Amino acid sequence: MSPVRSPLVVRGAIRVPGDKSMSHRALILAAMTNGSTRIRDILVSADVYATAGALRAMGVDMPALSADFVVHGRGLSSFHSPESALDCGNSGTTTRLLAGLVAGLEGRVARFEGDASLSRRPMGRVAVPLREMGARIEFERPDRHDSLPMRVTGGALTAITCENTQASAQVKGAVLLAALASGAGVTVREPYRSRDHTERMLTARGVHLIVTADGVTMPPAQRLAAVDVEVPADPSSATFLVALAALATAGVLRLEQVCLNPTRTGAFEVLERMGVRIDREEVRTVGGEPIGTLVVSPAALCATSIGGADIPRCIDELPILACVAACAVGETWITGAGELRVKESDRIRSVVDNLRQLGVEVHELPDGMRITGTQAALTGHVLTHGDHRIAMAFGVLAAMPDNRITIDDPGCVSVSYPTFWRDLAAAVDHTAVDRTAGDRNAGDRNAGRPSPLVIAIDGPAASGKSSTAQWVAQQLNVHHVDSGAFYRALTLVALESQVLPDQWTPDEVMALAPRITWRLTDRSVLPLVDGHVRDDAMRDTPVTRHVSRVAQMAAVRHWVNEQVRSAGSATDVVVDGRDIGTAVFPTAALKVFLVADPWERARRRLIQRLGRRPNDPEIAEETEALVARDALDAAQSAPARDAITIDTTTVTQEEQVERIVALARAARERRQGP
Ligand code: S3P
Repeated sequence: MSPVRSPLVVRGAIRVPGDKSMSHRALILAAMTNGSTRIRDILVSADVYATAGALRAMGVDMPALSADFVVHGRGLSSFHSPESALDCGNSGTTTRLLAGLVAGLEGRVARFEGDASLSRRPMGRVAVPLREMGARIEFERPDRHDSLPMRVTGGALTAITCENTQASAQVKGAVLLAALASGAGVTVREPYRSRDHTERMLTARGVHLIVTADGVTMPPAQRLAAVDVEVPADPSSATFLVALAALATAGVLRLEQVCLNPTRTGAFEVLERMGVRIDREEVRTVGGEPIGTLVVSPAALCATSIGGADIPRCIDELPILACVAACAVGETWITGAGELRVKESDRIRSVVDNLRQLGVEVHELPDGMRITGTQAALTGHVLTHGDHRIAMAFGVLAAMPDNRITIDDPGCVSVSYPTFWRDLAAAVDHTAVDRTAGDRNAGDRNAGRPSPLVIAIDGPAASGKSSTAQWVAQQLNVHHVDSGAFYRALTLVALESQVLPDQWTPDEVMALAPRITWRLTDRSVLPLVDGHVRDDAMRDTPVTRHVSRVAQMAAVRHWVNEQVRSAGSATDVVVDGRDIGTAVFPTAALKVFLVADPWERARRRLIQRLGRRPNDPEIAEETEALVARDALDAAQSAPARDAITIDTTTVTQEEQVERIVALARAARERRQGP
């Protein structure tokens, strides 16, 4: 007999962020066009920033990415060879599409670099056709003949017929962009049609293409017209929430404005085969792409087989489909998906290893896997290998109330879906869960597990927020988030950029933000710079001197708040900082506002700064400075209406921590119900 599952109720309407594939292409085509392109709802994520940054480095006047901006393209003549290597981060699409573009720009040379994951991925697949067309492609590592770093030298290209054996949209896109840039014609043939955004966007810009069942031909000497872009919601990102709804026990979830291009909807069809009901509403065409709202409700899930022509249409969604299959009745087979081995991680190995150690029976195949679904609760720690789609796939399983799953690197979702943890939490109807859990399973503490616990600690300057929060987090055995560390990390990269601090603009500083990600350590949420811990440099005097300049920028504050929210949606946290209980976590389980007499705050701050007991005139001077600062901060530092104010003037830090820990434990008990 299968165990009774605790209730998971989904609700509401969510528009997931813009489509990643279209976002890259929108930027590249806008830069290649002579004219202005307005781009709306682009995906603002690390991968897309990599493309924007690379285009900037080649001379394109690319503004900071936002929900609505205009690229004033100056055509192909505006591109020059970048002075230093193009940093493609984690993004295969950036690398391959831009390798194509540079290959078609005669006389331009660019060196491509990436992070450890991207540096393991095969680039020979673009090198082969681009060389055949006449470009020069060199790989620098003697031990690996087709991986980054890669040097591309553009040439006067000639027409070829490219046999795209892997049905790769990145290869097809690279070859089309190379041909377009050099005025050559080209034919690309593929065994199955890969996603066709490049073709649709080129057609919309007046480029003549001949599309047949087995490929596409582009005649030579084509011009690009300027066409505005509205990027629809990414179907690959939407699939995680569709899967959550499929795995729920009740409710309905609406996913709005999702791109329904038939080369991208394979995962929805696989889920329908497994029994999920997905209604498509308000379907219309925008910018040559069908878009619509998906209405999804839970289902009794059965196993299926995924292979052949399905694969290119759901390649990015296979990790989450495998996780859904782990909860379906029967054996699901995934075959013909060898490509998964060369994605951001070896996704066959990552999925198999993680499912297996959660207790699922799964068999690894060279080109896929066989999964035997189970109704049992899953428990364990997931290793993402820094792969965003592995983090999100297992994040969905972690949201199921009976499962006890932790994820090593939830911050890596910033590659394609920075607001994932928040959207995941928003899709669950916690009030309905609490009610049903109470009715059905009174006494079962695990029933209807609520979203992560957030304890918010706020207060004026020098009120001891940070040290208190750190201590409280330690006592509660949850993660500490120091929002100030994000400001410091961003200040550090700004200081390391070419621009002098007094010339920093919010746009310039924000253009650096994608270099900051975060990772969970045992105790805290740690901001990383380019994937590395830079704690010492972040605490150093130059950063301390300039951090307030960065922290005053509204766009930066918004960005830091997003990072902190994202961490607080992924794991239980104690967060300290300004606005935490009001703007950042208005629904935190416990909000504490620390206050203390200005004289006492001044005294404590000076002891910390000077390492000795200050004298009265020193304290008086510092008090004056603090009072002035309080007046400036007044608007930002107001306590939330439901905050508990603790006056720490006459209590020791130990007593104050003890009190907050007791309040936090009570808040946790309340959330877990009877
Ligand atoms: C993409 C194509 C696919 C996909 C990737 C994005 C694109 O890769 O997996 O996430 O935007 O062209 P391949 O072209 O390697 O199949």
